[in-house]
Amino acid sequence: MSRVALVTGGSRGIGAAISIALKDAGYTVAATYAGNDDAAAKFTEETGIKSYKWNVADYNESAAGTAQVEADLGPIDVVVANAGITRDAPFHKMTPQQWHEVVDTNLNGVFNTVHPLWNGMRERKFGRVIVISSINGQKGQFAQVNYAATKAGDLGIVKSLAQEGARAGITANAICPGYIATDMVNAVPEKVRDSIVAQIPTGRLGEPEEIARCVAFLASDDASFINGSTITANGGQFFV
Ligand code: CAA
Repeated sequence: MSRVALVTGGSRGIGAAISIALKDAGYTVAATYAGNDDAAAKFTEETGIKSYKWNVADYNESAAGTAQVEADLGPIDVVVANAGITRDAPFHKMTPQQWHEVVDTNLNGVFNTVHPLWNGMRERKFGRVIVISSINGQKGQFAQVNYAATKAGDLGIVKSLAQEGARAGITANAICPGYIATDMVNAVPEKVRDSIVAQIPTGRLGEPEEIARCVAFLASDDASFINGSTITANGGQFFV
């Protein structure tokens, strides 16, 4: 029987590429989405990957949603915490709401997604936790105090989970994508985006599939001794 993988924010952008890469690698995949019903329906129709709607910022919704996926598809072996949002503003203009929305989704959302699955993985003695962080969690970013804080927090989560899960056959790792050609990056004003691309030695934005391939590797048995690590995939823009 194929392993089951859950990808949050898995019907658009980097998440969609991850869902498809895992399906192509033989997993049974469930993709979550928060609000865009049309995009999710189109994604499911085109790929055959089931999509589920819940808000990762809400613990009870996440617990109920993951339980439903397990009832439909079987125990979740691979969880990819990918769902994330931006609410960019220079700090002097950042509102408490912008801070909390980003923390609730990007940081609390990781807890809410992984925590309901953790005991099952421990009991089955296998699990793969993969968290999609960001280059901006490593280097910080103008107008992203909220986002950078959550993405740096993601790295603390995987380094701690790696230690707790190791004896139970669970690995936890992060990927820090650089600037990838998605709606999120396209929302950055064009002039700013051009100046960012100019800082990428590769000379272009990354492609979602370039991140998805990192996920497929970390999920595989080949990556069994990689635990608590961060894969940096940013075209050479920033070295850790
Ligand atoms: N470094 C230094 N200064 C910067 C800057 C930067 N990176 N970006 C903007 N500024 C400066 C501007 O030059 C301007 O200065 P002046 O006032 O002297 O002209 C000032 O900051 C902008 O101030 P505003 O009051 O006009 O700013 P604003 O309230 O209109 O906000 C912004 C504009 C939100 C900062 C907008 O420029 C923006 O969206 N920037 C991009 C932020 C970014 O990189 N986000 C990443 C999104 S993609 C992502 O997050 C995915 C991932 O993981 C990589």
